[in-house]
Amino acid sequence: MAEVYDIVIFGASGFTGKYVVREALKFLSPNSPLKSLALAGRSSSKLVETLKWASSSHPTIPLIVADTSDPLSIRRMASQAKLVLNCVGPFRFHGEPVVAACVEAGCDYLDVCGEPEFMERMEAFYHDKAVEMGSLVVSGCAFVSVPAEFGLMFNLKQWVSPAVPNQVQAYLCEESDKCIVGNFATFESAVYGVANAHDLTKLRRSSRKRARPSIPGCAPRKGPIIEYQKRFGVWAMKRPSADSTVVRRTLSMHKDNPGGLQGINEDPKQARKRIAFWSQIKPAHFGVKIASKNIVDSLSGIALGLSIRVLGRFAIGRWLLLNFPYVFSLGRFRKNGPTDDEIASASFKMWFLGRGFSDANNVSEEPDKEIITRVMGSDGGYVTTSIILIQCALIVLKQRGDLPKGGIFTPGIVFGPTELQDRLHQNGISFDVISKTCIYNQI
Ligand SMILES: NC(=O)c1ccc[n+]([C@@H]2O[C@H](COP(=O)([O-])OP(=O)(O)OC[C@H]3O[C@@H](n4cnc5c(N)ncnc54)[C@H](OP(=O)(O)O)[C@@H]3O)[C@@H](O)[C@H]2O)c1
Repeated sequence: MAEVYDIVIFGASGFTGKYVVREALKFLSPNSPLKSLALAGRSSSKLVETLKWASSSHPTIPLIVADTSDPLSIRRMASQAKLVLNCVGPFRFHGEPVVAACVEAGCDYLDVCGEPEFMERMEAFYHDKAVEMGSLVVSGCAFVSVPAEFGLMFNLKQWVSPAVPNQVQAYLCEESDKCIVGNFATFESAVYGVANAHDLTKLRRSSRKRARPSIPGCAPRKGPIIEYQKRFGVWAMKRPSADSTVVRRTLSMHKDNPGGLQGINEDPKQARKRIAFWSQIKPAHFGVKIASKNIVDSLSGIALGLSIRVLGRFAIGRWLLLNFPYVFSLGRFRKNGPTDDEIASASFKMWFLGRGFSDANNVSEEPDKEIITRVMGSDGGYVTTSIILIQCALIVLKQRGDLPKGGIFTPGIVFGPTELQDRLHQNGISFDVISKTCIYNQI
């Protein structure tokens, strides 16, 4: 019988995959939860190149050849893994055979997907089977959507009774003294996401209605498309994002399971810890705005959103977008991705401006309390993504008994009560409380 590895990184030769490999190698040791690792992809020579890039010590790592167009090769890969880390995208095109094979094999699965339609479709089609087979599937263990989910939960935890939150607005600001550039596959995922937006609407219409959390006070007003947020010194604009949709799913799963999800083999101490964690999470209205110190960047962000929305709907428009990504994304996406220097000089800050009431028994129309928190780290798309994915993977390997037996879930509902936030903090993604203010009075 073929050897079973703790982790198989699928799509290891891709842009994100190679950063994930580099991060995984830091934790590969006989004393770590990660004792064995294999790399999988379409081409073994590209996997060898990845290893050369990721480590100067040339470790001997087994390679598995697997292609999403060859279901047998994907099933073979899943049968050789305790946990598959999937970095092959766009997930709309390549993700389903991998989820299907992992569920069938009963192995666990995490990915870096940022595509709401894929995540929700997998949940609708494979959740019951994943529960039955004991396969834990968590999509979105990446820059989109873990800083948003865990940053929101960190803010919500600061609202100590009798205070209660009403809304949390996140402001995501990516910074660099060089260009901030993304790799083509992310642009491609966004273009096809817009082109097929109707699939998501149709899926949601045909799925079970999600539970809506009850939130004290009124829903926040819509506000302008672009605002100057003086607290952070940034221009900010709304964007439709996977972050908000993943957060909504987590809050709805929390509403259905107020004490969170029971671990397959958790002891009473862990059960008490899980229930105590979720008792601190009081839901709030949530949104994400893209922020920039410079209004020209914000305006070019609006132009990029418009160009994808308008051109993405038509075949000829998509052809233009996908053949000239650098031109039509106004320099934000490149076919060969950012350079190592561009990645090294990039960083992000995500502020969470929470507003609510100092006394849950005295909820008025206007919030009277503000709590500002922040999550920050180095480059989001690749460095932060690889840190998040590997820390989630280490928790799955180390604490499998504390996690649900199986099913398709969001990162927040699975990893919320675990040590993930502390682990991210220790690995360079910091969570800080900036201020707690009674509106008009500093406290
Ligand atoms: N959520 C987030 O924050 C976040 C962050 C980063 C990336 N992502 C997502 O991650 C995905 C990958 O992005 P990327 O920039 O790494 O893309 P990439 O550089 O194009 O890598 C894609 C990988 O998929 C592999 N692949 C393509 N078709 C395949 C097939 N039929 N069978 C097996 N493997 C196949 C490629 O293999 P070859 O090397 O053989 O071509 C490559 O390893 C995208 O969907 C992106 O949106 C999300």
